[in-house]
Amino acid sequence: MQSFLASLCLKQRLLKDGHIVTQSIIHGKLTTPRITKETQRILEKRQKSLLHAQLTTYKHKWTTRLITWVTVLQLIRTVVQIIWAGLLSFSKVLMKVFGLLLNGSSDQRIRSRLLCNNNFLSKAIGKEEAKKHEKKRIFYSEVKDNNPLDCLTGKIKVVYVPSARTFNGAKSLPSCDYYYDMGYNYAYSTFYDLPADAGAASSDEASTVCNEVNAIQTASDQSDQKSETETCSDNSSISKSDLSLLDLYSGCGGMSTGLSMGASLSGVNLLTRWAIDLNENACKSLRFNHPETEVRNEAADDFLALIKEWRKLCQKYVEPDDCFDINIRKRTRGGVPNAHLANGRIKNAAKNEEESSSDDSKKPGKGVFEVEKLVGVRWVGSLEKKKKGLEFKVRWKGYGEVDDTWEPIDNLSDCQERLRDFVIEGKRKQILPLPGDVDVICGGPPCQGASGFNRYRNATAPLDDPRNHQMVVYMDIVNFLKPRFILMENVVDILKFCGGLLGRYALSRLVNMHYQAKLGMLVAGCYGLPQFRMRVFLWGACPTEKLPPFPMPTHDVVVRGNIPADWERNVVAYDETHHPELQKALVLGDALSDLPAVENSERRDEMEYLKAPITDFQQYIRLAKEALNGAVPSKRKKQKQILFDHRPLELNVDDYQRTCRIPKKKGANFRNLEGVRVRLDKTVELDQDVKRVYLPSGKPLVPDYAISFVGGRSTKPFGRLWWDETVPTVVGRAEPHNQIILHPEQDRVLTIRENARLQGFPDYYKLFGSVKQRYVQVGNAVAVPVARALGYALGLAVQQQCPGDLVMELPHNFPQSLMAAYKQVPNEIAVDVEEQS
Ligand SMILES: C[S@@+](CC[C@H](N)C(=O)[O-])C[C@H]1O[C@@H](n2cnc3c(N)ncnc32)[C@H](O)[C@@H]1O
Repeated sequence: MQSFLASLCLKQRLLKDGHIVTQSIIHGKLTTPRITKETQRILEKRQKSLLHAQLTTYKHKWTTRLITWVTVLQLIRTVVQIIWAGLLSFSKVLMKVFGLLLNGSSDQRIRSRLLCNNNFLSKAIGKEEAKKHEKKRIFYSEVKDNNPLDCLTGKIKVVYVPSARTFNGAKSLPSCDYYYDMGYNYAYSTFYDLPADAGAASSDEASTVCNEVNAIQTASDQSDQKSETETCSDNSSISKSDLSLLDLYSGCGGMSTGLSMGASLSGVNLLTRWAIDLNENACKSLRFNHPETEVRNEAADDFLALIKEWRKLCQKYVEPDDCFDINIRKRTRGGVPNAHLANGRIKNAAKNEEESSSDDSKKPGKGVFEVEKLVGVRWVGSLEKKKKGLEFKVRWKGYGEVDDTWEPIDNLSDCQERLRDFVIEGKRKQILPLPGDVDVICGGPPCQGASGFNRYRNATAPLDDPRNHQMVVYMDIVNFLKPRFILMENVVDILKFCGGLLGRYALSRLVNMHYQAKLGMLVAGCYGLPQFRMRVFLWGACPTEKLPPFPMPTHDVVVRGNIPADWERNVVAYDETHHPELQKALVLGDALSDLPAVENSERRDEMEYLKAPITDFQQYIRLAKEALNGAVPSKRKKQKQILFDHRPLELNVDDYQRTCRIPKKKGANFRNLEGVRVRLDKTVELDQDVKRVYLPSGKPLVPDYAISFVGGRSTKPFGRLWWDETVPTVVGRAEPHNQIILHPEQDRVLTIRENARLQGFPDYYKLFGSVKQRYVQVGNAVAVPVARALGYALGLAVQQQCPGDLVMELPHNFPQSLMAAYKQVPNEIAVDVEEQS
């Protein structure tokens, strides 16, 4: 009974940790817990709500009490007889036949490897979402559980089905009570593809009867698997070194820039083919820095509706005979998919179209407009108050680009040929992705409804909050496009808020789509930045791919902020038992000390550097795009390098005057201003013995909000940074009222460029939009070095060269050690840099 309670106790702990789809129960030395009667009652109640399944043998069913008792009595009688007869060896054989393992004590127990907990699933992700999970699907776990014998009620059949088959939505599964296609590992909440021999291996401890079943079914499945593996991700014929990336909620492109950089260092060309973002200026920034990318300034919801319609148009105009189902569609990479159609003209084209195309010089008459060609397509509806539907951008005959207009598809019913030309050309150029076109989807769906700064969070049903809806849209896009890999990023709030429901939802959706998945929390500072910034990253990989590992830290970091207790196992970091050789933590001076001094009123968007780089970081961050991607820098004479976006948010007169009075020393802030008194408990108040000081505007030198911020305990208002410090997280705002953002030695806040450097953006990366909007783009971004490390892991996974499964170590002195620029004679680099400066 003692260990039974311990087992329940463990279960409770695991329930709190909250795996959504499965619970792995640890088999190990159980300590004796102290459990009250009430706790025991609750635990037993929970125990009854769990559905346990030994791999191939028995189903637990606490509700059928009668059967339970009969079974228990029969089993106890059997066991007692066996023990009394001294036929221990015989008993073991007998028990093995029934799939039971004795625990070596009088307390008989079952070792269970699999547990599918539907009740818990409902609680964790909501009833509706839980219903979408297949009832028959369970997961293989390497960890084991001890369960009392009397929970057995009957025999069930559990079979292994290769995940390549389930990923492609196998129509018919072998007849069974349950099936499993994936393994589950507690570390990083990992769901992974099982090796092809999993059926045989996992049935080791199962009944011999079921072994046979497994052996037969696994074998037959394996022959199926071959063909379906090819269709699930038909990449065998594709150069492994060329991958297409779709960046959703791309912002200015921090995440995709870093991913491509890292992949490139691993030898994989990860090309951002498409990027989607609602913000026009973020799109401009991305377009400028990635001219090769099809940047779409639209809502992700509209993008999803659009690609669904685009598929229909392609089916209609391009490949009428082909099915676009990912299962059978070949991946095409920019080639003309159907040459005879692409080159040919359609008979029976609309009469007026034939006429118009035969007389190109004819200008439209009064009130008559002719469509010259279609130049764009979009879906309207999710945000506009317009009628939902497809619209095409029309270039009018005799008119230029500035006169292009968007027209609903219904208005173009007489322009079938133009439509066909546009679709054929659009498909050839892959202006939009179709299922099977995308190798990798990355992106961070905004979840403002989960933000800790948000006072009006929907704590009971976060997924019903429209501000969290993009998480659903993101997963719907994944479901439609079925990429080979997924990398989702988000704030840690998705794990903190509402028991981590949003994080669990994301994991749940991937697993439900039969993707392998793994969730980790990475700290930006651990990859060489003077910033802490912890974020959640979720990898997904289709079953035929290797699930990329998380890259372990390369740098020490100054810890700022705390980790959600329930998710500690998901933090990508070394524990105390490891003593890796990490590079020392970077501080602000390492990143910023070479930048020219600028005033609060600086208006220039471009300027010269004036100084050569001083530190390794500064030398690296100034490199050109090709060098950062690992290529040999071109020998042509360098032009003088221009420094972009090195201007601060201009403080208003009052704030500027306050800032000028903050001493230029470590730790200075509003508390150093006249008239502030610090109490013994470190809170502040206005010093009643000092006459309050006022600015020429009549406003107080020390604003009331500074005194009352965080109950007078904060040191943040008008806080000055110091060269040997780090920042907790670069955010999208630059006001100094509630964050420490004043430059160490200049009377201004950090510039856009300084923030960009703290985020690891290379200096060549130019931003667009107002000053405020540029800060937002930088603060929103995934820190480039984190994405770079993840991109490197992805590149290795694609090439099946990963040194680790769950995590991997990056090469010594990453990334410089892999960059051709650093393999030059050191003097040469120095010369390059001098030329630039
Ligand atoms: C956290 S930022 C993404 C940053 C980006 N991953 C990077 O590394 O630079 C989130 C972005 O989502 C965009 N966004 C918000 N709602 C959107 C929607 N419904 N559709 C498309 N983009 C949206 C915002 O404009 C913002 O740029």
